[in-house]
Amino acid sequence: MIKKNQTLGEFIIGNQASFKYSSGELSSLLNSIRLAAKVVNHEVNKAGLVDIIGAAGDVNIQGENQQKLDVYANDKFIQTLTNRNIVCGIASEEEDDFISINSIDENHQNKYIVLIDPLDGSSNIDVNVSVGTIFSIYRRVTPVGTPVTLEDFLQKGNQQVAAGYVVYGTSTMLVYTTGDGVNGFTLNPAIGSFYLSHPNMEFPESGTIYSVNEGNYIHFPQGIKNYIKYCQKEEDDRPYTSRYIGSLVSDFHRNMIKGGIYLYPKSSLNSNGKLRLLYECNPMAFIAEQANGKASDGFTRILDIQPTELHERVPFICGSRNMVETCESFLRNAQ
Ligand code: AHG
Ligand code: MN
Ligand code: MN
Repeated sequence: MIKKNQTLGEFIIGNQASFKYSSGELSSLLNSIRLAAKVVNHEVNKAGLVDIIGAAGDVNIQGENQQKLDVYANDKFIQTLTNRNIVCGIASEEEDDFISINSIDENHQNKYIVLIDPLDGSSNIDVNVSVGTIFSIYRRVTPVGTPVTLEDFLQKGNQQVAAGYVVYGTSTMLVYTTGDGVNGFTLNPAIGSFYLSHPNMEFPESGTIYSVNEGNYIHFPQGIKNYIKYCQKEEDDRPYTSRYIGSLVSDFHRNMIKGGIYLYPKSSLNSNGKLRLLYECNPMAFIAEQANGKASDGFTRILDIQPTELHERVPFICGSRNMVETCESFLRNAQ
C-alpha cells in the first residue's frame, strides 16, 4: 500500500509480503543498498572539497578521500552488501571478474546476486553535475551450498527480482522496482532518511525530449540518423527538445518524469554501443517496463537478450513507449 510520508525503510517492510519469495532477505538487501547510497551520497556531495580537506591534513588518514569516487562507491557498496550475509555474489563495473562472497557465507547458503554500476556518469563529478548508482538483483541459479559461478550472473534481464538507481542530483533520490511498479524516494539530508516522494512513477506514453550524444552522429547507423532528423523536423509536436547530461541515470530520470527517449546506439566506432548490458541496460530496462516505458537494442527487447559476458555492451534505446517504437521502425526501415 502506498502512503505518502512513508520512509523507504517502512515502505520496504510494508511491501515485503507482495514479493513472491517473501522471506525478509530481499528487504534486508534493499536496506543495505539504502545505507550504502547514504554513505556514497555524503561523499559525492563534498567532492569539490576533497583537495581542500586533503590539503588541511585533518582528514584522509587512510587515503580514502582521495580515492576516485567510483572506486570509493564501489568499495562502499561491496562492503555493505557483503556485511548483511544475504548476497552470494557481486559483479561491478569496477571489478574485472565477479566476486564470490565466501568470507562470511562459508557454506554458500546465500541466495542473491547483485550487479552494480557504483558511480554512473563519473566524468560529471569534477564539474558538479549529477551522477548516479545503478543496481540489479537476481536469485542465484546454481544450487545453494555450492560457490557461485558465471552462470549466476549471465541471466537474462527478465529474471531480475529487483532493480533500481540512485540519482545524486539537486536532491538525492532512490528509485526502485521489485516488479510491482516503480517508486521514488527523496533523501532528507537533515534527518538522513529517504521519504516516498514519487509513488507509482510512469513514463508518459510520448514525450518531446530526445537524449543522445549527437557528436557521434556521423558514426551512427542510417536508421538512427533518420530518426534524429525526424526528431528535428518541424511537424506535429516536433522539433523535439534535445537534452543530454551524459549520466544515464540522470537522463533516464528526467525522461521518465517528463516523457522522452534516451539513445546510445551502436556506431562505426563501437559496434555494440557503449553501455553495459548487465549493470546499466538491464536494470534501467526493468524499471522502464515497470514504469510503462520500453527498452530495446533497436530490434530486440533488452530484457530478452541472453548475456554471454559480464561486461558486454549493447545498443540501448529506452524511454516513452511510443517514441521507442517509432525509433525501432526507423531502424527496421533502414535495414
Ligand atoms: P560510467 O560513468 O559508469 O562509465 O557511465 C557513463 C555512461 C553513461 O552514464 C552515459 O550516459 C554515457 O556513458 C555517456 O557517454 P558519452 O560521453 O560517450 O556520451
Ligand atoms: Mn555507467
Ligand atoms: Mn560507472
